[in-house]
Amino acid sequence: MVAFTLPKGSRVEAGRTWPAPAEAKKPKTFRIYRFDPDSGGNPRLDTYTVDLADCGPMVLDALIKIKTELDGTLTFRRSCREGVCGSCAMNIGGENTLACTRAIADVPGEAVTVYPLPHMRVIKDLVVDLEPFFAQYASIRPWLITQSAAPEKERRQSPEERARLDGLWECILCASCSTACPSYWWNGDRYLGPAVLLQAYRWIADSRDEATAQRLEELDDPFRLYRCHTIMNCTNTCPKGLNPAKAIAEIKKLMVERSL
Ligand code: SF4
Ligand code: FES
Repeated sequence: MVAFTLPKGSRVEAGRTWPAPAEAKKPKTFRIYRFDPDSGGNPRLDTYTVDLADCGPMVLDALIKIKTELDGTLTFRRSCREGVCGSCAMNIGGENTLACTRAIADVPGEAVTVYPLPHMRVIKDLVVDLEPFFAQYASIRPWLITQSAAPEKERRQSPEERARLDGLWECILCASCSTACPSYWWNGDRYLGPAVLLQAYRWIADSRDEATAQRLEELDDPFRLYRCHTIMNCTNTCPKGLNPAKAIAEIKKLMVERSL
């Protein structure tokens, strides 16, 4: 009989419960994943109480308050606080999203649960290793490739050509979509995943780019592109309201057209 067990050190244990602030007017519980690789221990779920009467409205506000006032060891990434840099992506209330744009009031359940992005190597607490993700991004050559001589001023686009990039250029590479995708969980070493494929299509769709055939050739692979099984988790979770599944479908359509 096959025995399935979790890898050593992966079981999440009950963690520390931090005392609620005295005389909190609007107490709210946060359960946050903690992992310290240097401790040699298992990950744990720590419980904090934040007084929402004295806190900003977003989950990131609460994380910053916890780190500043309760527990300085809590580790997470953030930068812009405006949904622009993509660095605060994490799993909040069971959904991959941005901590800076997710309102505490919108998180379902009595307590707000906060985990790192799923199926990624955790470096510490809510910080995951994004090196492989960005190596995949670099592999699609995310820049304009041209062979023709550079014009005197600029490579121009009509308004219609420019409009084709809408829904693509807004991607902030937060990795919420890729880490919500079961195909990416199981084949993330070979499947590019929704975020990187959306970015690949952003350059394919650019009227100024002159490497479309080459770009399609490089994607024509059973794993790099075709591990997408249209599960749609990517589109459902994207905190910027983008549609990576549609971008992948557009690439697949171009693959069919080039084979005719
Ligand atoms: S498509 Fe959306 S979820 Fe995916 S990386 Fe871009 S912004 Fe993040
Ligand atoms: S801090 Fe930049 S997207 Fe959240």
